[in-house]
Amino acid sequence: MELVVRNMSISDLGGVVAVEKACYETPWTPEMFQEELSEERSWRRVALPPGRTIAGFMIGRCYPDLWHVMNLAVAPALRGRGIGGRLLEEFLEAADGESVGVLLEVRPSNQEAISLYSRRGFGLMGVRRGYYTDSHEDALVMTRGSRRDE
Ligand SMILES: CC(C)(COP(=O)(O)OP(=O)(O)OC[C@H]1O[C@@H](n2cnc3c(N)ncnc32)[C@H](O)[C@@H]1OP(=O)(O)O)[C@@H](O)C(=O)NCCC(=O)NCCS
Repeated sequence: MELVVRNMSISDLGGVVAVEKACYETPWTPEMFQEELSEERSWRRVALPPGRTIAGFMIGRCYPDLWHVMNLAVAPALRGRGIGGRLLEEFLEAADGESVGVLLEVRPSNQEAISLYSRRGFGLMGVRRGYYTDSHEDALVMTRGSRRDE
């Protein structure tokens, strides 16, 4: 699928919030996205087919020694077409460029996301018990070393 991936800006907020609401039972609020837009360590991209509205987005945090996947979401009707994979791969390429590893949390029930991460080099590091405040579900903690370390 032809896809434009570019930096997220304030004018994308409406489209990003719409995707977020369609993806999660406990979505981030618009204020949380606004905070990310003013956070200098934040990595944020949107993906959209040319001439169309936002299909997906990703937000990460770039700490000096480790980068963190904060949010990755694709509109339900547009899943399975490589959009989530493309967004994640751009983040991983940038992390490799800085020689840093990447960490994320994922719900054990989220098989699509777990396989997406596993196929891109993430392995299980541990479990955070009762991590998700809405369901008290555990989080799997997955990490991926920098390719330069391997
Ligand atoms: C996880 C998520 C971002 C994946 O987005 P996506 O655009 O469907 O991802 P891709 O199309 O790149 O597919 C990723 C992998 O999953 C598989 N896949 C995902 N959805 C699929 C579907 N509906 N049918 C078939 N395969 C699917 C693909 O085979 C692909 O594998 P590969 O690229 O390693 O070959 C999307 O499902 C989503 O938004 N989920 C809700 C929010 C969420 O849970 N985010 C993650 C939080 S940790």
